Amino acid sequence: MKAIGDAPGKIILLGEHFVVKGIPAIAFSINLRANAEVKVLNSGRHNGKPKVYTDLYGRVEKCLSRGKIHPYCTVLKLIGLAKGVMARIRSRIPPCAGLGSSSATSLALAGAACYARMGRIDKELVLKAALEADKYFHGKPSGIDTITSLVGGFILFRGINDYEKLNSGSTELRFIVVDTGLPKKTSKAVMKVLSLYNRRKRIMSKVYEAARELIDEAVHAIKRRDYASLGELMLVNQGLLNTIGVSFPEAESIIATAVNSGALGAKITGAGLGGSVIILAEEEKINRVVEAVRSRFSIKSYYVVKTDPRGLTVKARD
Ligand code: PMV
Repeated sequence: MKAIGDAPGKIILLGEHFVVKGIPAIAFSINLRANAEVKVLNSGRHNGKPKVYTDLYGRVEKCLSRGKIHPYCTVLKLIGLAKGVMARIRSRIPPCAGLGSSSATSLALAGAACYARMGRIDKELVLKAALEADKYFHGKPSGIDTITSLVGGFILFRGINDYEKLNSGSTELRFIVVDTGLPKKTSKAVMKVLSLYNRRKRIMSKVYEAARELIDEAVHAIKRRDYASLGELMLVNQGLLNTIGVSFPEAESIIATAVNSGALGAKITGAGLGGSVIILAEEEKINRVVEAVRSRFSIKSYYVVKTDPRGLTVKARD
């Protein structure tokens, strides 16, 4: 049996890092997607180790450090396909940019593998397998990336079993994503923030409470389609991310340039210490903001993205 899974990348709009300690966060799936094709091989013909190929790294076994199982192989094993399976993963989501490429690829793989093995989707099993892979990439993931990619649309995330879809006019929103080209390391950033939290609990608990208030106000702003307030809240959130130590000089300069050229708001997205900046600008100002940023910084790339309301989709393949 052959199946194909397809899952979107994501952007954390507000609340990254704070979410690791249970503060709600807002994320949305984007119109850059990853897909995985899985074929269960006839056991008589092939009963060996899984063969997993990716368009970025080739056969994944080749990028294994000795003795360590690749997270994609862990996904297949958890789905019950430890042997006799072939998978091919393709992604349009730039890796290491804070756009959820690892979660989307793991989820697409888990979804396709589940369908190829059982002829149906067991959502709990798919989620469990994808979250396990995320642990490898992220260290201590909150699960926000995987849930956003699974469900699709705008998500108010409180936990893996506690999230809601924000039904709003937000599909009209466009964000400029600026990939600084400085690689982020999620697990390192998460550990850094948790260590600061543990050393400065009294101060940090107040910063985290401010983050909670901010999300409340942002939910109202999104529901009212008040994008000027949303932009302002992005800037406040950026201030909090700076306070907890995950901003970086290039991001601060890009954000200042974006705001000075007319953007409503901007902030880093995801783990920080590298990765991407997201900018919210009105449609007619997008070109001006992009030009201002591109003329001053040697960025790796930029994308203008919008919400993709579709989460994980899976279908049989002939
Ligand atoms: O590294 P990213 O962009 O996928 O995002 C990590 C988000 C954190 O809040 C820092 C960690 C988490 O798992 O929620």
